[in-house]
Amino acid sequence: SKQSEESLRSPICCIMGHVDAGKTKLLDRIRGTNVQEGEAGGITQQVGATFFPAENIRERAKEINVDIAKLKVPGLLVIDTPGHEAFTNMRSRGSGLCDIAILVVDLMHGLERQTIESLNLLKSRNTDFIVALNKVDRLYGWKTCRNTRFKEALERQAKDVKNEFYMRLNQVITQFKEQGLNTDLYYEGNMRERYNIVPTSAITGEGIPELLWLLLQWSQKTMVEKLTYSDQVQCNVLEVKVVEGLGKTIDVVLVNGVLHEGDQIVVCGNEEPIVTTIRSLLTPHPMKELRVKGTYLHHKEIKAAQFVKITAQGLEHAIAGTSLYVVRPQDDLEGIKEAAMQDVKSVTSRIDKSCEGVCVQASTRGSLEALLDFLKSPEVNIPVRYASVDPVHKKDVIMASLMLEKKKEFAAILAFDVKVTREAQELADELGVKIFTADVIYHLSNMFKAGTGNLEEEKK
Ligand code: GTP
Ligand code: MG
Ligand code: NA
Repeated sequence: SKQSEESLRSPICCIMGHVDAGKTKLLDRIRGTNVQEGEAGGITQQVGATFFPAENIRERAKEINVDIAKLKVPGLLVIDTPGHEAFTNMRSRGSGLCDIAILVVDLMHGLERQTIESLNLLKSRNTDFIVALNKVDRLYGWKTCRNTRFKEALERQAKDVKNEFYMRLNQVITQFKEQGLNTDLYYEGNMRERYNIVPTSAITGEGIPELLWLLLQWSQKTMVEKLTYSDQVQCNVLEVKVVEGLGKTIDVVLVNGVLHEGDQIVVCGNEEPIVTTIRSLLTPHPMKELRVKGTYLHHKEIKAAQFVKITAQGLEHAIAGTSLYVVRPQDDLEGIKEAAMQDVKSVTSRIDKSCEGVCVQASTRGSLEALLDFLKSPEVNIPVRYASVDPVHKKDVIMASLMLEKKKEFAAILAFDVKVTREAQELADELGVKIFTADVIYHLSNMFKAGTGNLEEEKK
């Protein structure tokens, strides 16, 4: 199997868990970045993606005297997901694409709502995962041992710190048991018979080198078949978004195969398949987050597995969570177009058929879907008649103003993380259309309800 080991692709790893468990912070720690502090409200609201080259991971492993010279995978592709309850769609999308996962549990809180939701998503897809039991530095009296192997760091702690750790660990192990899963510390007993727990701190770095090492080792040992590179293009759309200077772009995970500049591609669209040509293939620098604006590397071609930003004409109606197809000269274009439309779970199905409701605009397709699902939930229940991934322009205000005569309170735009042009704001003021802007999804419904007062009464 030497041959196959040499053509292994990078495993795709999804990081999941309850809101604020420390998913983004753990990645920041590994990358040496500060993405989490730049997030609105400190919460992740879109899927993130980072490529960690094997070399970097090898360096980290050296810190704990682990030799992974024999490691044959080129690196690790990590997908960051939001833990807030509004983003089930993105958790589902991330977990659907990964080979392996990290389930982050806050040591001080144990298993929480979205930990269990994530766990069930992983179970339903038979995805292996490692538990990062995070925030060990918050144990009362914890003595920092920067970037040290957790086992050694624990040995250096006072007796009551150790006791508190074991007490909390055992609670978590019991909670996992209640979910039907056997878990234990990664260095205890037989690794293969249960899910491994690696205690970590995203702030002081204990346990991080082993986490990386375990992920790669585990992937390589158990998934050679799954990770053997194949020429057949397998590619999935993670996000659809506007990037200043680039226009509408899609972020994709290329799981297998090669993409070239100039390739003809087919992507699922809102109403019909989008047939277009790849204008440019961009990747962030290694160890940098795809969703953070920065400089991109340009490529003539890209081999899997990799995260790629694609620019091409006509991508504005592309739908996140669907497959991307490459059309080769011998292929049947009509057949591919049909296939592309099959997994459409379109935004249009979330829009009110009676055409009465507010207008909703968001910065990415994924956040738009999350916002629409949130507005539709029984507790919130705000109907939507129009939705788009765009800044707020005059035309949107005109669209919203159509409600003035029908249902005045719906003459509103809920704008998530997008700019409102000055002309649009002026026109809105003139016509009496309300524009609510927020960079945290669940603030929008509160603002809307406060802004219109007697919404509930109007509905009856
Ligand atoms: P969402 O993406 O919103 O679901 O949250 P998340 O899981 O990505 O958590 P995030 O990285 O945003 O961290 C949440 C908060 O916990 C932040 O204030 C972090 O600084 C803090 N935090 C994360 N990890 C640790 C840790 O290991 N120790 C301590 N003391 N704080 C941590
Ligand atoms: Mg996060
Ligand atoms: Na957070």
